[in-house]
Amino acid sequence: VGERTLIAVKPDGVQRRLVGQIVQRFEQRGFKLVGLKMVKAPEELLSQHYHDLRKKPFYPNLLRYMHSGPVVAMVWEGHNVVRTSRLMVGDTNPAEAHPGTVRGDFSIHISRNVIHASDSVEGAQREIQLWFNCTELLDWVCCDHSNTYQL
Ligand code: CMP
Repeated sequence: VGERTLIAVKPDGVQRRLVGQIVQRFEQRGFKLVGLKMVKAPEELLSQHYHDLRKKPFYPNLLRYMHSGPVVAMVWEGHNVVRTSRLMVGDTNPAEAHPGTVRGDFSIHISRNVIHASDSVEGAQREIQLWFNCTELLDWVCCDHSNTYQL
C-alpha cells in the first residue's frame, strides 16, 4: 500500500456543488481514489477529528459547521500524496491561498474553507482510521492512466 491521505469536501463545498471539480483535480494529478463516502459526520467523530483544536475559540463554530450538512470523505493514494495534496488545497486561510489551489479558487473565509486535507503521514493514518473502516478501502490496480502512481 502506498502513501494515503484523507481529503474531505466540507459541508459548504458539498452545498456549492464543488465535489466533482475537487475529485477531478485529484484524479487529474494522478492520484488513486481508494475510498469515498458521503456522511453526515457524527459529533463524536468530529470531536475526535478536531481533538487538537478543542481549546480554540472557534472550536464550537467549527463543529457546528462541520455537522451542518453532509461531508464527502475520500482516501487518495500515491507518491507523496500528503504533501502534494496540501499544496493542491492551499493555505488554511483562503486569503493566503494561492490561485490555482482549491481554497484559492473557491473560498474567501477561513471558517468556510471548503476542504480538509491531512497535514502529515501520521495524521493521515489516524484520520483515515477514524473516518473509514478497512472494508471501505479498496486496493485496486491502476492501469496505464495512472500517471506514475506505481513508481
Ligand atoms: P482545516 O485546516 O481543514 O482544519 C481546522 C479548521 O479549523 C480549518 O480548516 C478551518 O476550517 C477552521 N479554522 C481554523 N482557524 C480558524 C479561525 N481562526 N476561525 C474559524 N475557523 C478556523
